[in-house]
Amino acid sequence: MTQVDVLLGLQWGDEGKGKIVDVLSPQYDLIARFQGGPNAGHTLEFDGKKFVLNTIPSGIFNEKTMNLIGNGVVIDPIILKRELDNLKAAGHDPVAKGKLVIARKAHLILPTHQLLDAANEQKMGKDKIGSTLKGIGPTYMDKTGRNGLRVGDTTLPDFKDRYNKLVEKHKDMLSHYNFEYDLTEKEAAFFEAIEFLKSIPHVDSEHYVNGFLKEGKTVLAEGAQGTLLDVDFGSYPFVTSSNTTTAGACTGLGIAPNRIGHVYGIFKAYCTRVGGGPFPTELDNEVGENLRQVGHEFGATTGRARRCGWIDLPALKYAIMLNGVTELIMMKADVLDGFDTIYACTHYEHNGETIDYMPYDIITVKPTPVLKAIEGWKTDVTKVNKVSEIPAKLADYIAFLEKELAVPVKYLSVGPDRVQTLELN
Ligand code: GDP
Ligand code: IMO
Ligand code: MG
Repeated sequence: MTQVDVLLGLQWGDEGKGKIVDVLSPQYDLIARFQGGPNAGHTLEFDGKKFVLNTIPSGIFNEKTMNLIGNGVVIDPIILKRELDNLKAAGHDPVAKGKLVIARKAHLILPTHQLLDAANEQKMGKDKIGSTLKGIGPTYMDKTGRNGLRVGDTTLPDFKDRYNKLVEKHKDMLSHYNFEYDLTEKEAAFFEAIEFLKSIPHVDSEHYVNGFLKEGKTVLAEGAQGTLLDVDFGSYPFVTSSNTTTAGACTGLGIAPNRIGHVYGIFKAYCTRVGGGPFPTELDNEVGENLRQVGHEFGATTGRARRCGWIDLPALKYAIMLNGVTELIMMKADVLDGFDTIYACTHYEHNGETIDYMPYDIITVKPTPVLKAIEGWKTDVTKVNKVSEIPAKLADYIAFLEKELAVPVKYLSVGPDRVQTLELN
């Protein structure tokens, strides 16, 4: 049997997962999303075109590759339909080509889940999570609370009754908030999208993926969000509501842990975070603003400005440990092209101690990063397309990271386009 490779973010999301899944997809027969939902925004650029995918796996542009939305994903039918309509308008129709299947066991995001997300954030005021307001938290709550509706339920004769029952519960919950809403338009769009959802083949993702493996076919699991947003291991409560780590690929697709092969851990040459919560290396100054402008660090889903800071090695080590990362992928090296000096956080000073891990009380006591200065390469690397052309100082930075993190960097990304990708080892 072949193994399932996994590609996931090691930071707080937006590392460039979509771009690299697209680059690697010719090597795979199946690309499968395993968690999260339309809180994700995965950007792909090629042939002068740019696409942002929210629910659809990033293998969709490869002619040969099948794409699965796994059971661990939460699906907003309205957003999924819009994504597919936009793709169709751009000349890509994965449904007509039979290149997309959805897990029956994936949970549905209802319009009222979004309302609950918004009402809850509004009530929290300045302590809010900074959620994407896509209804992710409330949908996963209904999943674990055993109330949720799943893709497979849409074909049952009493689907509408089940929907109404859940919506009544949500309305009751909403009555406890001082929150105005009108559901009429959203509900109509929801049921239209549900009809559309029925035209996409529904599968049991556990049998589907294991079937691929049995036939010796190759599978890549595509993570959403990032390790530091994992509901168990991230900076709780400033996290998302799913397991974004390798373990999430097992539960989110129905594969056994011993079926996991390569684990590609992807990170930016610096670090960003969108939404609330701790960020030890954050640069709340003109250096951070410079990273934001040069790196175009504005959310692919919400357009929000991303918080920017230096690379955080204790956080990366933690993420590598949790995921069993076998190869690293470094993104956005070009964003640092203009810097005389860049910095890497090697340790934290925390409660009078020097530590190299993320402490439990990171939420209440901000660790002070211990920074190592690294000479910049001061070269435009966006057109570098041979390993031999990588500036020596950038090669030194990569070698430093490999030594600190004890995992090889296999790919280096020097721009948003597909072709701006180098294989190093
Ligand atoms: P994802 O959520 O992990 O797929 O990442 P996003 O798409 O949210 O954010 C990554 C952003 O960086 C997108 O705008 C990409 O087009 C862009 N990007 C990806 N790789 C590179 C790179 O190497 N250099 C630059 N400058 N931009 C990149
Ligand atoms: P991709 O896949 C970056 C963040 C939100 C918020 C927290 C909880 O594009 O990397 P949620 O809507 O999930 O309840 O929000 O998680 N967040 C992301 N940040 N990239 C993402 O996805 C994110 N998905 C959620 O900003 O802080
Ligand atoms: Mg993103």
